[in-house]
Amino acid sequence: MTRSSLISGLGVVAVVVLVLAIGLLPRLGVWFGHDGTAATGHGVTTTLTGEASIGGPFTLVNGAGETVTESSFPGQYLLMYFGYTYCPDVCPSSLYAMSLALQDLEPALVDKIQPLFITVDPERDTQAMVADYAAAFHPKLIGLTGTSEQVTAAARAWRVYYQRVDMPDSAVGYLIDHSAFLYLMRPDGGLATFFRHGDQPDAIAAGLRAALTQDASG
Ligand code: NI
Repeated sequence: MTRSSLISGLGVVAVVVLVLAIGLLPRLGVWFGHDGTAATGHGVTTTLTGEASIGGPFTLVNGAGETVTESSFPGQYLLMYFGYTYCPDVCPSSLYAMSLALQDLEPALVDKIQPLFITVDPERDTQAMVADYAAAFHPKLIGLTGTSEQVTAAARAWRVYYQRVDMPDSAVGYLIDHSAFLYLMRPDGGLATFFRHGDQPDAIAAGLRAALTQDASG
């Protein structure tokens, strides 16, 4: 092998490695994103420290076809989770943990909280589907969907990362990888606290209790 062919051979290897690495990046993002603990590269982790940058106005639709906005629950804390009903694992376990936490919490505190499940899959998740899905986890949990534009705007306001992953060999057709934070928003719209996928129900209950009682005393 001549020197020049060796160099060009290395060049080809370098290009192949680069292409593989680039091809791998979205998968890595997807993996870490759904886990909800390391959704870096999508601004989630960093922006969670800046309370002002999480949340905002939103316009969505509930199971009865009624418009729901940030003003629909005056005086209430909003406990918000973005996901989708076809989610095989992360959404059910996160919502189950949330449900157990709410069962743990004193009824007087639960009265101050309005839990919301917001789909990031409005294409498949109809009004009836999100409503039924949410109600299966907790009687207070309200499922919301909307037009693609409405859902995109809400997800953007909460810095939710989500990306469709086509599954051509699967009956469901596609999955959606998404960040999996549970946000507690104050009645004034500010972020009170948040929880990660994998947080245990008792830890979530303790966090909710601390946030609500701190606000009440402060
Ligand atoms: Ni999910």
